[in-house]
Amino acid sequence: VILRLAIIGFGNVGQEFARMLLLKREWLLRSKGLDVEVLAIATKTKGSLLSRTALDLEKALGHLKASGTFEGLPEYCDLTPLKIINHCDADMMIELTTLNVETGQPAIDHIKAALDVGMDVVTANKGPVALAFDELRDRARARSVRFRFEGTVMDGTPIFNLVERTLPGCRVIGLEGILNSTSNFVIGEMAKGLSMDEAIRGAQARGIAEEDPSLDIDGWDAAAKITALANVLMDANLTPRDVEREGVRAVGSQDIKDAAEKGKKIKLIAMAARSGDRIRLTVKPQTVGPDSVFWSVDGTSSALRIQTDLMGDLTIVESGPATTQTAYAVFSDMLLTVEAIRAGTLC
Ligand SMILES: NC(=O)c1ccc[n+]([C@@H]2O[C@H](COP(=O)([O-])OP(=O)(O)OC[C@H]3O[C@@H](n4cnc5c(N)ncnc54)[C@H](OP(=O)(O)O)[C@@H]3O)[C@@H](O)[C@H]2O)c1
Repeated sequence: VILRLAIIGFGNVGQEFARMLLLKREWLLRSKGLDVEVLAIATKTKGSLLSRTALDLEKALGHLKASGTFEGLPEYCDLTPLKIINHCDADMMIELTTLNVETGQPAIDHIKAALDVGMDVVTANKGPVALAFDELRDRARARSVRFRFEGTVMDGTPIFNLVERTLPGCRVIGLEGILNSTSNFVIGEMAKGLSMDEAIRGAQARGIAEEDPSLDIDGWDAAAKITALANVLMDANLTPRDVEREGVRAVGSQDIKDAAEKGKKIKLIAMAARSGDRIRLTVKPQTVGPDSVFWSVDGTSSALRIQTDLMGDLTIVESGPATTQTAYAVFSDMLLTVEAIRAGTLC
């Protein structure tokens, strides 16, 4: 079976996903009977590629690395992503453009356009799930296609797929987690004596901080993630603006020392809790002791505690994430979508 893809957004994650397709090409053919062809790739500033037959991914990656643009390749074009989505013959659109935490755009429009032409959609962009989940889920159902987004929270760590696939019938009562690596890393570095600015520069040097660190430091990234989680797992229908949000910006070295003297650490905790019919979302620095599941979640690691009615509390920890894990989320969502197509189901 041939699966034809359009990849919209081809930065760190898009390129890593393309390398994964090359690496797993034989395995996909042998184990899954799947021949994955990429027919289109779109970027904002490096041009796009569009073809009726499979692009040579190795050549595309090499050309982009060598020249910083797709210009010069025979399939080069300067069509917008929306035109590409409407003109290519792909079965599935992979949305990997930059996050906009306020509007979710242009990703929301890309996803709507793909669903409308009958493509299944996979994304790692949390904007659409945090800002328009109900609309996109309903649109996908109405068009009898699938919409998956495992990479939006904790990279490739199975969260949405874990609950959907392995906890049937469980009701999620609450969620609590360390969801922003940069804040966790920065507080940890401050505990070792660095200033916040030095710690942020260290996070940027490691490539874990957003270019605009306020997305991390002011809690916006964690707010978008807890909203995405609550929308999907708790039917919250909220946006990041509904989160009571306080990032780590106001945490001082003295606060960290005071906590340490009491045998505690400061962590940025995101929470979703049911309160009557409402769901309350918060992101704020909290002190935790050695008895907390979050005590040893240090550095760039993340963790999520899922409270359920039938399975009690489960905590999943991700250690030292890299782009590979996010690309794997896209890869595994692609395969789960193919399984659903083969089974004739919508999830
Ligand atoms: N990096 C991670 O580990 C990670 C983890 C979890 C989730 N994510 C999410 O995954 C997505 C991709 O992340 P990334 O690290 O790959 O980002 P990135 O390296 O900045 O790449 C973003 C890509 O999107 C393209 N793009 C941006 N706006 C566009 C537009 N209007 N039209 C067409 N293309 C557009 C960019 O074009 P140019 O190449 O021309 O700039 C670039 O190719 C983001 O939503 C991010 O939040 C990333």
